[in-house]
Amino acid sequence: MNPLYASLPTTIFTRMSALAVEHGAVNLGQGFPDFGWPEDVVERAAEALRGSNQYAPMPGLPELREAVAEHYRGHQGLAVDPAEVTVTSGATEALAAALMALITPGDEVLLFQPLYDAYLPLVLRAGGVPRFVRLAPPDWRITAEALAEAFTPRTKLVVFNNPHNPSSRVFTPEELSLLAEAAIAHDAIVLSDEVWEHVVFDGLSHIPLASLPGMAERTVKVGSAGKIFSLTGWKVGWAVAPPRLAAPIAKAHQFLTFSTAPNLQSAVAFGLAKGEAYFETMRRDFAAARDVLVDGLRGAGFVTLPAEGTYFVSVDLRASGIEAGDADFCERAVREAGVAAIPLSSFYAEDPVTHVVRLCFAKRPETLAQGIAAMAAARRLFG
Ligand SMILES: Cc1ncc(COP(=O)(O)O)c(C=O)c1O
Repeated sequence: MNPLYASLPTTIFTRMSALAVEHGAVNLGQGFPDFGWPEDVVERAAEALRGSNQYAPMPGLPELREAVAEHYRGHQGLAVDPAEVTVTSGATEALAAALMALITPGDEVLLFQPLYDAYLPLVLRAGGVPRFVRLAPPDWRITAEALAEAFTPRTKLVVFNNPHNPSSRVFTPEELSLLAEAAIAHDAIVLSDEVWEHVVFDGLSHIPLASLPGMAERTVKVGSAGKIFSLTGWKVGWAVAPPRLAAPIAKAHQFLTFSTAPNLQSAVAFGLAKGEAYFETMRRDFAAARDVLVDGLRGAGFVTLPAEGTYFVSVDLRASGIEAGDADFCERAVREAGVAAIPLSSFYAEDPVTHVVRLCFAKRPETLAQGIAAMAAARRLFG
């Protein structure tokens, strides 16, 4: 086995989900919704199975590439040419293709911690040399000082994620400007993982990094139909990039998966044309679920951190009067109280934050009620 994979433990999501099954616990660990997908999009995919079931064109069905371009024009004011869109098998494949195509071994790659679990193994496998910007609770703020310390003349690429999983932050225009200025000053590419772009709450709106001055030419924007339509199992994503970056990404994609299920692509193209009402309802429903979980957790004596976007809310154990570390808390919570959560320390490669745990609120009321009762029981385990 490649030593990189040999050294990697089983992911915390797999471990916690297995423990949840073993102990009959409610699973608020892994981030998938159990409600909220549009039935007409699912219906469209079912119907499209009666059409072509052969290989789709390598960069994606023309109708989906056009729909992605039109969607971003309408919702985010971006001028995207369909030729700049490469359809991939999930955002994860877009990230893999971009990193394989754009990094030469030895290039420095800047990553923000806490980080989505796929980033670091992909960067390392591509030969990148990671440098970390550490974000910390309660505000998880990006500062000019932290960027100045992390960027060097060898920085080739920045992996950025906004809205951010697992902190649930939507970065401010000022923070985005700091990042853009640093990337331009160092002539770095930004791989901007924006899969949560529609899952933002409280009137916030998503600002695509490519919309900042000087950024369109150096940004690879990654999206995912899984998050937009609450259909995470579909694994339909895309990379949007200017021609000098889109061409190498398409080459890498050609030798990864080559193409993605045509019926799913066709259904996603249909869904992306939905009007604002769909997206507003989706956000309203997830915000309501978030409020149910947050109120329940507060009622059980926990201090929660703001959840501005994504499907997740974090509990600050220390602020809740719990001295145990996040991994210990999660281990006992799943075994003894019947709820699976994810320790934030597992999202750090070095110098972890160890007093925060992440819970998924994209669940039906009965699942949330069970989760809240079990979290209250977990609270009692820790005095
Ligand atoms: C930040 C981030 N990027 C990428 C992904 C993966 O997206 P996909 O399922 O489309 O590969 C996720 C899924 O949770 C995510 O949170």
